Amino acid sequence: MDAPAGITVVRTVAELRTRVRAWRDAGETVALVPTMGALHAGHLQLVRHAQSIARRAVVSLFVNPTQFGPNEDFAVYPRDEDGDCSKLAGLGCDLLFAPSVEEMYPPNSLTRVAVPSLGDLLEGEYRPGFFTGVATVVCKLLLQALPDVAVFGEKDYQQLLVIRRMVTDLWIPARIEGAPTVREPDGLALSSRNAYLSADERRVAPALNRVLRAVAAGVLAGADPIVRAELGAAELLREGFTSVDYVAVRDAETLLPWPGPTRPGRVLAAARLGKTRLIDNIPLA
Ligand code: PAJ
Repeated sequence: MDAPAGITVVRTVAELRTRVRAWRDAGETVALVPTMGALHAGHLQLVRHAQSIARRAVVSLFVNPTQFGPNEDFAVYPRDEDGDCSKLAGLGCDLLFAPSVEEMYPPNSLTRVAVPSLGDLLEGEYRPGFFTGVATVVCKLLLQALPDVAVFGEKDYQQLLVIRRMVTDLWIPARIEGAPTVREPDGLALSSRNAYLSADERRVAPALNRVLRAVAAGVLAGADPIVRAELGAAELLREGFTSVDYVAVRDAETLLPWPGPTRPGRVLAAARLGKTRLIDNIPLA
């Protein structure tokens, strides 16, 4: 049998627009899946979802410097473009957009997109500027590719809400779809950063999802959300996590404290295991 054909890779916005325009002129729908690469089964699930809702699927691969803090892992973030290309080719993905930092942020560029309030809570509190970096790069990617729809994972639940808010507020003409979190059999959410975990840390990591489920069950059984979340943080430390940034029961749309059963809820957590920071979230249902 022939080897699967490689995927087409473009590195400039001009080439990306030429390809996407040709598809749209031919009446084909286009879905965009933004990623930072080091693709795992969670990313690939988003690509399959994109292929199920649009005729063409475009993946972007860009490790976005503006969403990393000065003491974060930009320099060492896992990069494997060749591996990513073969995984995407295996799925029959139509196009990979892999721009340089200079293409995305030309030397004179200044503009940033901020989503205050929603972007300042939870992750935003522990990673100042993170959602401005995310909103800025996703805004650029959506305006560069002009897809019909873009697909994001619920794994990064607050990111999904921030992007929806930005797209609504700026009238960006793309639909935003969320796709469920893909997990290891022991419950650990797949993440490119799981590659940083030692064998011992990997054994502790599934406690994050276990504790989220215990907090959700407790609150649904009538426990006070704030007290039960604090208990969850203590459980994470007892299980072997190094530190806990937050365990929180929030309104699933505003991310403000969950007002009670009249509103959909979400349980979210971030905790450190050695030098690795893990996040996870589940619906309160
Ligand atoms: P990255 O971490 O590479 O994730 C790309 C997309 O894959 C995001 O929408 C994320 O939510 C989704 N994803 C990651 N792990 C997943 C899992 N286990 N199950 C389902 N989906 C999963 O998120 C980013 O990149 C960046 O912030 C980006 C949006 C590309 C902007 O730079």
